[in-house]
Amino acid sequence: MELRLAGGRVLIAYRLNRSFAWNAAHPPRLPPRPRQVPPATVNLFDRTLEGPVGIAAGPLPNAKWIAAYARLGYGLLTYSTVRSREHPASRAPNLAFCRLGDPTTIEPTPRRLDPAAVTLAYSFGLPSATPDVWRADVKRARAALGPKQLLVVSVVGTPAPDGDGEQLAADYAACARWAAEAGADVVEVHLSAPDTAAERAQMVYEDVALSTHIVQRVRRAVGLKPVVAKVGAARSPRALHDLATATARWLDGFTLINGLQRRLVNPDGAPALTGPGRELAGVSGAAVWEHGRVQVAELCAWRKAGAWDRVVFAVGGITTVERARASLESGANAALVATAALVDPLLAARFRGARVAAEVARRPRR
Ligand SMILES: Cc1cc2nc3c(=O)[nH]c(=O)nc-3n(C[C@H](O)[C@H](O)[C@H](O)COP(=O)(O)O)c2cc1C
Repeated sequence: MELRLAGGRVLIAYRLNRSFAWNAAHPPRLPPRPRQVPPATVNLFDRTLEGPVGIAAGPLPNAKWIAAYARLGYGLLTYSTVRSREHPASRAPNLAFCRLGDPTTIEPTPRRLDPAAVTLAYSFGLPSATPDVWRADVKRARAALGPKQLLVVSVVGTPAPDGDGEQLAADYAACARWAAEAGADVVEVHLSAPDTAAERAQMVYEDVALSTHIVQRVRRAVGLKPVVAKVGAARSPRALHDLATATARWLDGFTLINGLQRRLVNPDGAPALTGPGRELAGVSGAAVWEHGRVQVAELCAWRKAGAWDRVVFAVGGITTVERARASLESGANAALVATAALVDPLLAARFRGARVAAEVARRPRR
């Protein structure tokens, strides 16, 4: 993923032809923080944050990556999803660009990137180090951040071969407790993971009873520490409403939405990814924007109507400063980016610069 920066410099955030393990061990050499990044403070969970733009689960697999992004103006940084046991990543390629206007066909890295249109496909298999390793690493990640930044740690339950909902909920709860003990400021419960025990293919968040059971167990495991649930695109406004209503009582907030699940093909029409469990990949970036925007607006409208008072983190297709601003204006408490963290790491700094410029322009002239 080669990006041309101002001044002719080239930034490679993620090497598409290398394994996940290689990329995890080699965080990018990011451009220096622009000289002046004005604060755009926001209050969240009794803390003052340096800015409302953050990084969603995915781009930051460990403390080295978190440290690399820590100085670029992001107020929230998410430590990518961890499990109760070691889990290998799917074989490379794990990440690819999608064809403009056709998010199901992958293609080589485009020569010029249009941030408003960039769409990626990802398929990692939610890899995780062993709990001993990631718990020590979460501590390092927290130490790499400042007092005005939140460390969110994303956790997912791992179903046992004959496990039921109870086993899955207990597994989510164990990971959540370890994440909280290791120093997470916020625990994110990743409910947009496959529900392998279900009779038909579905994601955990599509089963309201199971999701409620999981967040209830997680709440008991972590006590008062903020807990948010990450969900994917809902089948209908009703489905999202029912899920939010049932789970809100155990949660401090919602993160939405996850990438869209799509079958990917190469330009010649052949399946792009092979191997068990890789029939569908996540599609992220511009192709997700409309889906995410609508769901965030729906959730914020119900909150305004008094359904429940919880934090909303917008994610999905926020690849420009304008979209980050639109998400916040629609009521989201923070705007998180995954694709943009890889293709435009300076987005948060530009957002903060633009916000201050707009405030200055609005000031009355004497
Ligand atoms: C490279 C990459 C890896 C991702 N890995 C995870 C993950 O481990 N856990 C998770 O909850 N979401 C993961 N996601 C999904 C993102 O958190 C986000 O919901 C989705 O990409 C939409 O946001 P975007 O359009 O800003 O990329 C990943 C996304 C990308 C691009």
